[in-house]
Amino acid sequence: MKNYRWQCIDAGSDYCPCYLAETMDCITCSHLQGKEFCDCNWRGVCIYQAFAFEGDKKKVPREDMEALIVKKEEHGSNITIFTLKVPHYMARQLSQPGSYIFVRNKKLNQYFDAPISIMSTDIRKDLIKIAIEIHGIKTKSIKDVNDSILIRGPYWNGIFGLEYLKQTKDSNSLIIARGIAQAPAMLLINYLLNNNNQIDVIIDEGSSNYNFMKEFYGNENVNIVKECDLYDLEVIDYIDKKIALKNYSLIFVGASNFLQNKLLNNIESLKNKKIVTLNSNEICCGEGICGACTVHDVNGIPIRTCKTQIRDKSL
Ligand code: FES
Repeated sequence: MKNYRWQCIDAGSDYCPCYLAETMDCITCSHLQGKEFCDCNWRGVCIYQAFAFEGDKKKVPREDMEALIVKKEEHGSNITIFTLKVPHYMARQLSQPGSYIFVRNKKLNQYFDAPISIMSTDIRKDLIKIAIEIHGIKTKSIKDVNDSILIRGPYWNGIFGLEYLKQTKDSNSLIIARGIAQAPAMLLINYLLNNNNQIDVIIDEGSSNYNFMKEFYGNENVNIVKECDLYDLEVIDYIDKKIALKNYSLIFVGASNFLQNKLLNNIESLKNKKIVTLNSNEICCGEGICGACTVHDVNGIPIRTCKTQIRDKSL
């Protein structure tokens, strides 16, 4: 059996212990999985002790709050970008790459909660920016909202490989992103820029028909090397050669699960590289409860990807 080091993104946070501790399904703590021994491999504050300290209860979970829409921009027929005013702690905690929130029209109930990645934050003004591609039942219900919107967060597991990302300093990175995945890629690019990295970007506007990377035009540390169709076989060949020629310390691949797997399986030079990928699984509750986001590892063990960091994408 191959052992992975899964890690709960919420472990040690203001939201730990959570509902899963109360149901004895904690991702990290073996005691809170009903076992008699401790083998958690977690180096932070003891989750079992924190649970006992709370009187065998979870901490206060994330709740809905109303956020003022400061700006709304529409691009083409299906991309809407909202700038929202949020409490200071939210703006700060959502600055980490992979952050996301649930948003919904305040006239509707929680069935309409849609998980949306954070595109950028401004912690001096307590603003966050999110981009929504309008194409489904949930996102259509948000399109005509103009004054305020309900949000729930912060959530952080929007990308896998955070550990690799945090190690990347003073080096070269390659970003490959398609469609609406360009939005979370922007938060990631800003993080890499803050750590003195040079960044090459390959984008495919996909169904968004929008180039989010325009914002980086003129930035000497961000080089848009190709705008293309990532489904094109010649592009796969181009990326393979590009990676083989340049010494990238980190590569981000952001697209649907289908395309991410296609690129990871077909680009030989991606093997043995530090890869960060987008969590493109279906996220519904974000709390590890509903099971919508579950994938199975090579041992058949179910992994709730809304909360679990996956280091090895060979699931
Ligand atoms: S989204 Fe509900 S368990 Fe992950």
